[in-house]
Formats: sequence, structure tokens, C-alpha cells
Amino acid sequence: MRIDVITIFPEYLAPLELSLIGRARRDGLVDVQVHDLRDWTHDRHRTVDDSPLGGGAGMVMKPEPWAEAFAAVRADGQRALGEDVEPLVVFPNPAGVPFAQATAQEWSQCEWLVFACGRYEGIDERVYEHLADLGYEIALASLGDYVLNGGEVAVLAITEAVVRLVPGVVGNAESLLEESHSEGMLEYPLYTRPATWDDPAGVSREVPPILLSGDHGKIAAWRHQQALERTRQRRPDLLGPVDAPGAET
Ligand code: ADE
Repeated sequence: MRIDVITIFPEYLAPLELSLIGRARRDGLVDVQVHDLRDWTHDRHRTVDDSPLGGGAGMVMKPEPWAEAFAAVRADGQRALGEDVEPLVVFPNPAGVPFAQATAQEWSQCEWLVFACGRYEGIDERVYEHLADLGYEIALASLGDYVLNGGEVAVLAITEAVVRLVPGVVGNAESLLEESHSEGMLEYPLYTRPATWDDPAGVSREVPPILLSGDHGKIAAWRHQQALERTRQRRPDLLGPVDAPGAET
């Protein structure tokens, strides 16, 4: 998989060199290229923003550097991947479609993602129109119903959620099957040794005895029940009408 990120704060993406994604990059499973949008400006101040036409607070990102950036990144990516490969262009945006595990699954199958990090009040709307006219596939993705200062933090989160699903990135692929959101539910509670833990307040805490029973069928059923209960309590919105709170059981 290839990932390009266009931003005015390339240093913000430094964590993509660490941990799981850093290793996936070194292993050649994912090629991440971070670009400075200001490289496609032509004035002394490397200007990427201007005041909103029609008035209003804040600044808007100018269209020209973005158009040049997309053309250059596309050409560069196509040199590496092939002339017929096209990217999915993702704009992190609080007004986008909520990003979820299903989105991460879908995007983990993509050969090429280009992330475009907006800052200030946003990007001139004509950039989206221009890209659509050129035939780019575009997605606006929101991390949640709150406003960040720019798309960079969202790119870190989305990239991590996507790249860990790329085959070979997570060593134990089985662990991806039972985690929260993998089956539309939250994950069951986890325990490890010691089976009896005397906590610092002097309380002796046992793990649920069933986990020590060795009966894998019963353990699986217990975990499913726990996951369901936890989801009912914390995230009833994830459950269908059959499992939702108040439904007959
Ligand atoms: N940019 C600013 N806020 C954002 C959000 N909530 N999600 C994605 N991108 C953003």
C-alpha cells in the first residue's frame, strides 16, 4: 500500500515512523510519503491561505497550491505504482462521513491513499470540484463530532486504523478478529495472570472462574455475553433491534 500525506506541518506526521507503522514501512508493506503543501507555492511567503470571499472569520486554503500538489503527487505515485493506478483522496473533515472500523477495512484493501490535510477554516470548495472533474475518487472523513485544528491528527488515527489491517502488518492476525468493532460489538473484558491479585488497597481480586475452567465452548459463550452486555450499556447505538436494550431476550 502507498500512502501520501499533503500537509503544511510535515513534522506532525513523524509518529508514522514509530511502532507498528514504522515497522510496516521498514518491512516494505506500506510506503508513506509526506509532502509539504508549501512546496507548491510560488511567492516569497509561501502563502497557502487567504481571507474568505463574502466575509467571515478566519482564513481559507487557496486552491492553486492544492491543484499543483495533487498533480505532482499523482504523477509521482503513478511512476511508482503504474500509470493506470488511481488514488483514493481522503480529506479529513469534521463535516465528513464518520470514519469507522468498516471504513478502515475497506480502505485497507486500497492500493493507494492520498490524505489532504486542511487547516484554518477549510479548503476552497473549487478544489473538490476540480478533483472530481479530473476523475479522482474523493472521500471526506470525520473522526467524530468535534473540531480539531487540522487534518493531521485525523490522518494519524485513520492511517493507524487502516494500516494495522493490511495483511502482514499485525503479526497475530487472529487478534484482529476479536477486538472491539470487529463484529459490531465492543470487546469482552480481558484478564491475565495472576489469577488472584491483591490490589494496592488490600482487596483480593479474582478473575472470573470460567476463564480457568479450560472449557473453550463455555468461555466463548461467556465472552459473547459479556461483549453484548458491555455494548448494550456503553454503545446501544451499535446494536440492531434484536440485541438493543429493552428487546425481549
Ligand atoms: N479536521 C478538523 N476536525 C476534524 C474531525 N473531527 N475529523 C476529521 N478531520 C477533522
